[in-house]
Amino acid sequence: MRLDKAARIAKGAEAIIYQGTYLQNPVIIKQRLPKTYRHPEIDHRIRLHRLRSEAKVMSIARKIGASVPSLIGINIQESYLLIEEIDGKLLYETMDLLPIQRLKPIFSSLGSQIGLLHCNDIIHGDLTVFNVIIQLEDKPIIIDFGLGRISNEIESKADDILTFYSTLKAIQPASKILFSTFLDGYLSVYPEGKNTYEQMKKIQSRARYIAREDRLE
Ligand SMILES: Nc1ncnc2c1ncn2[C@@H]1O[C@H](COP(=O)(O)OP(=O)(O)O)[C@@H](O)[C@H]1O
Ligand SMILES: [Mg+2]
Repeated sequence: MRLDKAARIAKGAEAIIYQGTYLQNPVIIKQRLPKTYRHPEIDHRIRLHRLRSEAKVMSIARKIGASVPSLIGINIQESYLLIEEIDGKLLYETMDLLPIQRLKPIFSSLGSQIGLLHCNDIIHGDLTVFNVIIQLEDKPIIIDFGLGRISNEIESKADDILTFYSTLKAIQPASKILFSTFLDGYLSVYPEGKNTYEQMKKIQSRARYIAREDRLE
C-alpha cells in the first residue's frame, strides 16, 4: 500500500489519527495503539479484533446507503484503517457557527441517517456531537464506528440516541428543539423507532431516580 503519512491531527485513548494521501486522494489513517500494560500477544489480538470490527460495521453502514466515509483499506500488521477524508467541520463546532434555522435541517437529516442505521440493526456505540462531520452543503457524515456493532436490541439503540441527546444538551441551549427535529427525522425512516424513544425515556428516568437517591442532603 503506497501511503504518504502527513500530519497527526488527533490522539484519542485508543487511536492516533493522521492525515495523508493515497493514490492522490486525501485520506485519514486511524491507527490503534498498543497498550503496554497488556501482554503483547493478547494486546495484538484485541487490537486486531477491534480493527476488524470497526471496518466491518463501517462497511455494512456504507452498503445500506448511510452517509459514512468509505473504507479504503485495512493494514493488520500496523493496525490501522485507511478511511476517506471528509472535508468539513465537526457537528459541535458547527453548532457554534450556525443559526438554529440552519441547524434544524442538519439535525433532521442526521436523525434519518441514524434511523437508517437502526432500521438495519447497526448500533453506532458512541453517538456524540464529536463523531459527526458536517460536510459542504450541510450534509452530516457519521464517523468513528470503533464501538459499533450489529444488534437488534432496543436497549442498545436507546443508548445511542440518549448518548446523542446528553452530549447535545451539554453544549447547546436549544437542545430540546434540535433533538425533537432529530427524532422527527429518525421516526420518518424508522417508525418502529418509537420503541427506541420510549426505552430512552425509561433509561433517563431510571438515571434520574438514581441521581435523587445519591443526593446527600
Ligand atoms: N473520515 C474522516 N474525515 C475527516 N476527519 C476525520 C475522519 N475520521 C476521523 N477524523 C478526525 O479525527 C478525530 C478522531 O477520529 P475518531 O474516528 O472519532 O477516533 P476516536 O476513536 O479517537 O474518537 C475526529 O474527531 C475527526 O476530527
Ligand atoms: Mg471519536
